[in-house]
Amino acid sequence: MIDHYNALAESLEAAERAQRQWVSDTSHELQTPLAVLRAHIEALQDGVRRADPQTLGAMEDAVARLTRLVSDLRLLSAWREDSLIADRGPADLARIAQAAANSASEGFAAAGLELVTEIAKPVQLSCDAGRIGQVIDNLLSNALRYTDPPGSVKMRVWAGDSAAYLTLDDTAPAPSDASMSRLFDRFHRGEASRSRAKGGSGLGLAICKAIVEAHGGQITAAPSRMGGLHIRMTLPYGETA
Ligand SMILES: Nc1ncnc2c1ncn2[C@@H]1O[C@H](COP(=O)(O)OP(=O)(O)OP(=O)(O)O)[C@@H](O)[C@H]1O
Ligand SMILES: [Mg+2]
Repeated sequence: MIDHYNALAESLEAAERAQRQWVSDTSHELQTPLAVLRAHIEALQDGVRRADPQTLGAMEDAVARLTRLVSDLRLLSAWREDSLIADRGPADLARIAQAAANSASEGFAAAGLELVTEIAKPVQLSCDAGRIGQVIDNLLSNALRYTDPPGSVKMRVWAGDSAAYLTLDDTAPAPSDASMSRLFDRFHRGEASRSRAKGGSGLGLAICKAIVEAHGGQITAAPSRMGGLHIRMTLPYGETA
């Protein structure tokens, strides 16, 4: 009986610790763009800087970053309330993936990366097409950001016996071993993201995981045979009728 209460107290304490960490990480993340904005506003007030396109552009970037953060956070909290999938219905994963690849292709070409697709058609399943599209967009934007040119990225989509699959492989660099196991953690950022000017906040893959799991699926990461990262998403077919 006492053991039982101790275990319960421990698990409550762990949950509370996780909650505190989440709030602390979130406020830390919000502070960065806010500090940038405050510095610019003060410089304008003091007359140290003029409202030229460069200053206004930097302020706009900070606002864009804040806006994105807030919408990412809202998405992650919706998942907690089990309300992440708003619009589930019959959809074709092949079409969703092809559309995402088409809209990403120009950016890849401009970055000196080759985007290859191997998409079996059609791959019918029941899902929230908008949200699954968002997962694929996030994965493609990571591949674009964290693959050195000249390099290549390969997306495959196929229908398995009991589930639909999508994999994404890219060439070097790959996340470090330490990073690999924490890739889907909220706010986890690898070296590449922390040191780059346009690095993200480390919520992209946490959001992918939340969306995929809300569909009853799985998403995993491993080193790719191509030298970079291998991501695999498995989605159950669900009721497509
Ligand atoms: N294709 C990839 N190749 C190498 N490393 C990757 C790749 N995708 C993600 N990573 C590493 O995983 C980390 C977490 O990715 P995630 O998408 O969650 O966050 P982010 O890209 O840093 O920020 P956000 O997506 O919120 O803008 C990245 O910071 C990066 O270090
Ligand atoms: Mg990302």
